[in-house]
Amino acid sequence: MTDIRNDVAPEVVGRVENATLAELRDVHIDDVYLQMDWLLKSRPTPIDLYHRWENQNWSTQELDFSEDAQHWRDMEGIFEGFRTELQRTFTLFFLGEQAVTDTLSPMVHAAPDEDSRIFLSTQLVDEARHTVFFSRFFNEVIGVTGGLHEALGLVRDQTVEAYQVIFDGELVDVTEAVRLDPSDYATWVRSITTYHLIVEGMLALTGQKFLLGIVRELGILPGFYSGFTAVARDESRHVNFGVRALLEAHAKDRAMGTVIEDQVMKLLEPACRIVAAPDRRFVVEPEETPPNLRISPYEVRAFSLNSLTKRLRVAGLSEVFLEEVTKRGEAAYDRAWSDYEDIHSVDHPRRFWDRMAPTNA
Ligand SMILES: [Fe+2]
Ligand SMILES: [Fe+2]
Repeated sequence: MTDIRNDVAPEVVGRVENATLAELRDVHIDDVYLQMDWLLKSRPTPIDLYHRWENQNWSTQELDFSEDAQHWRDMEGIFEGFRTELQRTFTLFFLGEQAVTDTLSPMVHAAPDEDSRIFLSTQLVDEARHTVFFSRFFNEVIGVTGGLHEALGLVRDQTVEAYQVIFDGELVDVTEAVRLDPSDYATWVRSITTYHLIVEGMLALTGQKFLLGIVRELGILPGFYSGFTAVARDESRHVNFGVRALLEAHAKDRAMGTVIEDQVMKLLEPACRIVAAPDRRFVVEPEETPPNLRISPYEVRAFSLNSLTKRLRVAGLSEVFLEEVTKRGEAAYDRAWSDYEDIHSVDHPRRFWDRMAPTNA
């Protein structure tokens, strides 16, 4: 399994760090992920990340979605299946951004020191901006009009079962517990593990990588591509804040390691099931998909689990625990894939990949 890249070229890091919103249109998502690895390795302080936030600020109002709207209309009928698959992913992100905007403020208030509170204040603004970005995109491109409130209401029932376990359940519960007792450091650590590690470090980073990869391969939605790459760069700061906060918690008090481990294990299965989404039937089978647009479920599984474990490693957790996360995570995906076949009475796309490369299976 690959881990943090050590050989990241400084010019790649510099280009991602300093790109304007317009320049982000030409930045490849893999380069943003290389920059994230570099940042992860350098363990930035909350104030380092705050300074990045000042330099990397962007405005949703600068984006022009007119070409995107044309592309979306052009896909109607011809690429209907892809349109549906893309819209489902957009919806999960839109709802996800709203959920994290609404739950962060108790964590800002309960942060254990002033530097962390200053950084988390910037994150709160970022999450609000991401929600507004999706609201504009849904309004002007997808055609879900009527403003933020109506749009969220219209797409609310388009989630997957496991999404509700984490976003409507644990994320709300743990941040409410922080609100009720902001002096309880262990609860704050549990909220960071949920929010910054599982929701952002595992789920958002995985969704972003594959979504931006597909949009780039299709050569469509330039406004979305620039804005969502800016979102990914914001997430890089958020996730790195979380990793450092957990590293400090673990270094201060060994018992916090157990708090982190228990929370990861509690959320691992639903997190894997959000990505695998067994209750949602794919509308486009891999056989009907052009080779450059096919996404292997094995690749998604490995990416999501590696995304989580490499951050847990930097946070100071043991190799034994990380191996257990990978083993249990892989088994959770296997169960979700076989549930998919039971629910829909069709082969899961993994079968296609098993035939292509039997060593995967
Ligand atoms: Fe966000
Ligand atoms: Fe975020």
